[in-house]
Amino acid sequence: MSISELSSLLKEAETGGLAAIAAARDQAGLGRARAAVLGRKAPLARVRSALSDLDEEQRRELGRRANEVRTRLEGALEQRERAFRAAEESNRWQRERLDVTLPGDEPRLGGLHPLTKTIWEIVDIFSGLGYRVADGPEVELTSYNFDALNFDAQHPSRSEQETYYIGETGEVLLRTHTSPVQMRVMESSEPPVYVVCPGRTYRRDVLDPTHLNSFAQIEGLAVDEGITMADLKGTLQAFARELFGRDLDIRLRPHFFPFTEPSAEMDVLCFVCRGSGCRVCKQEGWIEILGCGMVNVPLLEWAGYDIERYTGFAFGLGAERVAALAHGVPDIRYFYENDLRFLRAFEGVA
Ligand code: PHE
Repeated sequence: MSISELSSLLKEAETGGLAAIAAARDQAGLGRARAAVLGRKAPLARVRSALSDLDEEQRRELGRRANEVRTRLEGALEQRERAFRAAEESNRWQRERLDVTLPGDEPRLGGLHPLTKTIWEIVDIFSGLGYRVADGPEVELTSYNFDALNFDAQHPSRSEQETYYIGETGEVLLRTHTSPVQMRVMESSEPPVYVVCPGRTYRRDVLDPTHLNSFAQIEGLAVDEGITMADLKGTLQAFARELFGRDLDIRLRPHFFPFTEPSAEMDVLCFVCRGSGCRVCKQEGWIEILGCGMVNVPLLEWAGYDIERYTGFAFGLGAERVAALAHGVPDIRYFYENDLRFLRAFEGVA
């Protein structure tokens, strides 16, 4: 190539190159322009490879100009590159912009199980009356579940029809009520005793709308000087009013438990019909909610308490029963089906 041809090729390398760089629309386009402008087959490369055919002076002159063109092209590429990067960054700022003043998405909070709520509510009421919470094992010794509680050897509750025994000896069982916790508390502490004991209990019952084979009870025990049945009734009255409503009366009906003497069942006035009889109270006007009585003397003796000085009362209630009554649940099995539609109905219910 002649020097003038090379000169115009170099011109073309510059003007064409700058135009290609200017025409790039994005970073990928710029990459292609870079290859076309500075690559091995680019006009500039062709100029450079032809330099060796020139004489010394022309080579130096054209070489210098070729370097200048290269520098200019590189400069233009870099400038565009920077522009694209800045544009992308500001795009990203736009895209990922976060308005921290917007209200957030409220996370969905779970809720306590309605049964747990009822148990806590009951425990809370008794805490307010000065009771502490006590606990005992679900796998219990027969001696605590029955013997110490004054069940005679023939008592039907002891039968395998009624009770889940563990192993063959008959000495270990799943507790059938929370009353053995009474014995454990009295065994390990001196009066005055004021405890409530929520816990799981087991009976060999056939499941139906009012029976489960695993259920929750809450036991109460008070032993102190001078405790009478009036204290029992007053305490339970205060409790029932707190739980079911200020104006609901209670009544005690005579009953039998081996571990209390005298014994009673407590009914609360039906909160739906207030005594006139309806479906909820099965036309009774009253709803049975717990068993209770004065701690039987053999229990106090078993515990080594001074029976001349101390008397006490105890009560035990079924948590599912009370929760069902409090919330109008017609079938206590619902509490264990874990159907979220049922459970969500209690969200936010205190
Ligand atoms: N343990 C009795 C039951 O399960 C309830 C009860 C407890 C009765 C304390 C009297 C005193 O039926």
